[in-house]
Amino acid sequence: MNANPNATAVAGELAGRHIVLGLSGGAACFKAAEFCRLLIKAGATVQVVMTEAACQFITPVAMQALSGRPVYVSQWDARPDNNMAHINLSREADAIVVAPASADFIAQLVQGRAGELLPLMCLARPIHRVPLLLGPAMNREMWAHPATQRNLRQVVEDGATVLGVAHGDQACGEFGDGRMLEAAELLEELIAFLAPKPLLGQRVLITAGPTFEAIDPVRGITNLSSGKMGFAIARAAREAGADVTLIAGPVHLPTPRGVRRVDVDSARNMHAATVAHAHDAHIFIATAAVADWRPATQAEHKIKKDGSGDVPQMAFVENPDILADIAHSPRAQSGDLYCVGFAAESQDLQANAQAKRARKGVPLLVANIGPATFGKDDNALLLVDDEGVTELPRASKRLLAQQLVQEIARRVSGLDA
Ligand code: C5P
Repeated sequence: MNANPNATAVAGELAGRHIVLGLSGGAACFKAAEFCRLLIKAGATVQVVMTEAACQFITPVAMQALSGRPVYVSQWDARPDNNMAHINLSREADAIVVAPASADFIAQLVQGRAGELLPLMCLARPIHRVPLLLGPAMNREMWAHPATQRNLRQVVEDGATVLGVAHGDQACGEFGDGRMLEAAELLEELIAFLAPKPLLGQRVLITAGPTFEAIDPVRGITNLSSGKMGFAIARAAREAGADVTLIAGPVHLPTPRGVRRVDVDSARNMHAATVAHAHDAHIFIATAAVADWRPATQAEHKIKKDGSGDVPQMAFVENPDILADIAHSPRAQSGDLYCVGFAAESQDLQANAQAKRARKGVPLLVANIGPATFGKDDNALLLVDDEGVTELPRASKRLLAQQLVQEIARRVSGLDA
């Protein structure tokens, strides 16, 4: 499995965007180099601006090589015809991202100081048009210090967005809060920040992955669902501004940033967790491949071979249908909760999808050819609802998830209107 699926699926996602990447001093400057590379890979143009302190940690030469543009450090840089780098650079930007943002740099922002080019440029930016995002990086004591926490509250009040921080090993050898986010996480946050927000204010509940139905403590029944589609939808819904809860069966996928994840194993646990979170959700999307049956009994200890050649006889009972239960709840029936079902079919996609939509009682049913998509990074979807049939042709699950979220947002806002 790729360690960073969120970093691989973004080619071209920032095409046409111009990002000013600011570096202030900190050991995390090495991550800014990787972040710069990912921004370029995602299609952005990147202008790097560094403080003198940042130049102690990484050279402007390295950042120029990675960004493909000469780096700015000094406010007295005479290259611009008008000698006003701070004005020109800030006005060209779709966003300014300062990562690492040191404690000192954040303190300078709070005070509106402009002693070198980077804070000067941040101060001079058109505040309502050019967003400022900060990726703090510092020792845990510096992070926890009341002065830093006070400064962070103030920069947010002054319009900046703070990304992170992470918890873990620090360059100084200590362990705690204050690590800068990884490059792929910064990229995910920036893409989410820049995305349109058609689901702002909506609470979205999603089930994803397989379920695991235990036979005994070491064996069970499951299926080949990877969870990738559901996780991609969770990410896309969060980017669209929703508050997202993801009920995940046993899968090996990182949680999309900003998404609340609840891990479950069996269908019954998934059912209980979903019911518990559905009471205040506005949209429910059931992508999980829930096991239809479970063993009628679960052995307390491992079932042993006894050498006789006899095989255990197994009886099954039906699992609760999570989607059908939620779709028949009073909130769904009254239109307060919009339910979306998935169907993994092996043939007759449209006919099967229409039948399943009626059977489950959901306004929107999304069909795909199950065996052709399990575990893969791409898929093709067929949306069946009152309007008829909408085809989302084969594409990455990332792109399909974004398109599906737009389709759902359009239908939900149509309901509200
Ligand atoms: O009945 P079938 O499994 O084909 O229906 C698929 C849809 O129903 C998916 O949206 C799936 O997440 C949901 N489902 C469920 N609980 C079950 C079975 C399916 O929520 N027990």
